[in-house]
Amino acid sequence: MKEASTSEVPLGQNLIKLISNLCFSAFVFSVLIFTVIAITYQPPDPWLESAPALTKLFTQTENATFKNDDSILKTGEDLVASAAISPAISPSNSAITEAMIEKSEKLINDSAASRQLRCEEKVNCSDPRALFAIERFNLRAFKSIVFLEYQPPVNGSKPDECDVSWRFRNKKEKSWRKYRDFRRFKLVFGENCTYKVDHAGGWHSGVNARRFRTRFGNATATRAGKLAPPAVRDEEINDTIPSLGSELSFRKGRYLYYSRGGDYCKGMNHYLWSFLCGLGEAMHLNRTFVMDFSVCLAATYNPSGKDEEGKDFRYYFDFEHLKEVASVVEEGEFLKDWKKWDRGHRRKVPFKKVVSHKVTPMQLKKDKSTIIWRQFDAPEPENYWYRVCEGQAAKYIQRPWHALWKSKRLMNIVTDISGRMDWDFDAVHVVRGEKAQNKELWPHLDSDTSPDMLLEKLKRMVQPWRHLYIATNERFYNYFDKLRSQYKVHLLDDYNELWGNTSEWYNETMNLNNGKPVEFDGYMRVAVDTEVLYRAKTRVETFYNLTMDCKDGVNTC
Ligand SMILES: *[C@@H]1O[C@H](CO)[C@@H](O)[C@H](O)[C@H]1NC(C)=O
Ligand SMILES: *[C@@H]1O[C@H](CO)[C@@H](O)[C@H](O)[C@H]1NC(C)=O
Ligand SMILES: *[C@@H]1O[C@H](CO)[C@@H](O)[C@H](O)[C@H]1NC(C)=O
Ligand SMILES: *[C@@H]1O[C@H](CO)[C@@H](O)[C@H](O)[C@H]1NC(C)=O
Ligand SMILES: *[C@@H]1O[C@H](CO)[C@@H](O)[C@H](O)[C@H]1NC(C)=O
Ligand SMILES: *[C@@H]1O[C@H](CO)[C@@H](O)[C@H](O)[C@H]1NC(C)=O
Ligand SMILES: *[C@@H]1O[C@H](CO)[C@@H](O)[C@H](O)[C@H]1NC(C)=O
Ligand SMILES: *[C@@H]1O[C@H](CO)[C@@H](O)[C@H](O)[C@H]1NC(C)=O
Ligand SMILES: *[C@@H]1O[C@H](CO)[C@@H](O)[C@H](O)[C@H]1NC(C)=O
Ligand SMILES: *[C@@H]1O[C@H](CO)[C@@H](O)[C@H](O)[C@H]1NC(C)=O
Ligand SMILES: *[C@@H]1O[C@H](CO)[C@@H](O)[C@H](O)[C@H]1NC(C)=O
Repeated sequence: MKEASTSEVPLGQNLIKLISNLCFSAFVFSVLIFTVIAITYQPPDPWLESAPALTKLFTQTENATFKNDDSILKTGEDLVASAAISPAISPSNSAITEAMIEKSEKLINDSAASRQLRCEEKVNCSDPRALFAIERFNLRAFKSIVFLEYQPPVNGSKPDECDVSWRFRNKKEKSWRKYRDFRRFKLVFGENCTYKVDHAGGWHSGVNARRFRTRFGNATATRAGKLAPPAVRDEEINDTIPSLGSELSFRKGRYLYYSRGGDYCKGMNHYLWSFLCGLGEAMHLNRTFVMDFSVCLAATYNPSGKDEEGKDFRYYFDFEHLKEVASVVEEGEFLKDWKKWDRGHRRKVPFKKVVSHKVTPMQLKKDKSTIIWRQFDAPEPENYWYRVCEGQAAKYIQRPWHALWKSKRLMNIVTDISGRMDWDFDAVHVVRGEKAQNKELWPHLDSDTSPDMLLEKLKRMVQPWRHLYIATNERFYNYFDKLRSQYKVHLLDDYNELWGNTSEWYNETMNLNNGKPVEFDGYMRVAVDTEVLYRAKTRVETFYNLTMDCKDGVNTC
């Protein structure tokens, strides 16, 4: 690329730079075109809503460097068609229905021990009939929730109160992850002296029922009256890094090892596109993928405005899910075992170095080496991981999007925010930031998302005084104040105690970071904003709901 201009040395410095930049841009562009073409011919993907849509998502930008909409973050659980995820095997995954409640109630009614309730009796939280009343109440109150299992109610703070804890999932979340709520209910005797819920407390109000039996422990029944100790962590999360076990099992394994490439410190969309290419190749080759947990977060997502290294993969993504569905091993563990083996044995571990992305996955299929080590030392953009999946390879390698979910720790924040609004809220996604400033490509976006216009347009789509969550990349908190005259406005920053230094999230991420606090960065904000947005009843999008500008700039729609 560069030879063309090397002759004119002194005068042409700038010219050379310009030309090589132009060459580079043209090159990247042609690569992308090629990718688009290649991917369009991919075989149909059983679990993607549409592969072409994704291709567009990652390739269409004026600058051709993955600078697409960074105010939304889609991962596996958002892309999968719900039918494609089979319910996990665990029996506790079956939803509690009215029919089930009735059946248990009948058993109680018919049992000899059962006696007629008398209206002057005190509320007895241990009475199964109290729980039936609460279960029925919940089914009616929270239509978007699937209730999975209840713990027996315990006494609340007053004689007629019971605290109950349960697990649930949200119908809008396509993963099978479970969350936990515990609320306080005031019970009264209704007609014919049956239990009736008089009042239900808000999200996480039933603190006496807070402790929950987990799959790691047995019933940790809370004694009523005694305040339960604070929940220290979500005991459901097990994303510890597994070790490889014995040396022999190391030697028997087959690994695909990508050393760090030019993708490092690029945008997160680029990171995902590359990471999933590597993981996809490993799956194609039936090998264990060696992964680097240390992520470099690009400057755009950092409050400091600089690239930051040393972020843990698990801050953002669900490693527990990943290790369940894919064969992966942590780089440090892997290198340790490799060295150990080579030191301890005369016969070294056979490995094959691959120095160019032009060696295709199909060519490596027959290779029997224990380790296939892809190196990415060529100058950019020859050193991007995703280049491995271009061209012919795109027909064979499918990016395993289903393996990548958002971190459960972030999802707990999402659940908390939507739970506090009782899952009864509407949301608007307001894209501003760089796009609003770029009048050339988005001529009306700025004015269409101005406070006055927003209010006027939202009035037509969202009922007054609804809870309105605003997912946005607008940095100025008070920008949306005008909407407060019509709606109960919620912004991510209203919930900052959920990641503040007294939060569960803070404690848990600190544990991953050797006891040092972790900053709640811009990428986490986008992840949470996205998922809250997806849980709204009415969802208003910026493009085509608020503005007629095209999502990707003039003349792209
Ligand atoms: C491409 O991106 C660079 C840096 O991100 C920016 O300076 C430049 O203006 C962009 N080009 C266009 C056409 O937007
Ligand atoms: C159980 O008994 C109560 C009152 O004693 C009655 O309201 C309820 O319908 C009965 N449930 C079933 C399933 O028979
Ligand atoms: C409350 O209900 C449980 C279960 O039905 C029963 O064993 C217990 O004796 C009741 N307690 C009171 C004070 O009635
Ligand atoms: C719950 O409260 C009732 C009276 O309101 C009392 O009889 C019972 O012992 C309490 N249960 C527990 C487990 O403390
Ligand atoms: C209460 O009992 C009466 C007579 O047994 C019955 O007709 C009525 O339907 C009952 N009400 C409820 C809500 O179960
Ligand atoms: C909990 O402990 C009881 C007895 O201590 C035992 O019978 C039961 O199986 C245990 N449950 C679980 C889920 O381990
Ligand atoms: C966080 O950890 C500290 C010490 O380990 C503990 O005192 C505190 O209660 C924890 N906070 C939460 C919300 O779990
Ligand atoms: C967490 O998962 C690993 C396997 O990935 C398992 O070996 C370990 O026992 C689990 N830890 C707990 C506490 O269940
Ligand atoms: C994949 O590799 C595992 C062991 O590494 C082996 O047991 C299995 O048969 C292989 N499957 C295929 C389809 O090659
Ligand atoms: C938590 O943050 C607040 C405000 O930033 C600070 O005053 C407080 O000392 C911090 N607490 C801990 C335990 O770090
Ligand atoms: C937003 O626009 C889409 C497509 O034009 C439309 O289907 C949807 O109903 C609109 N949303 C609202 C809340 O009006």
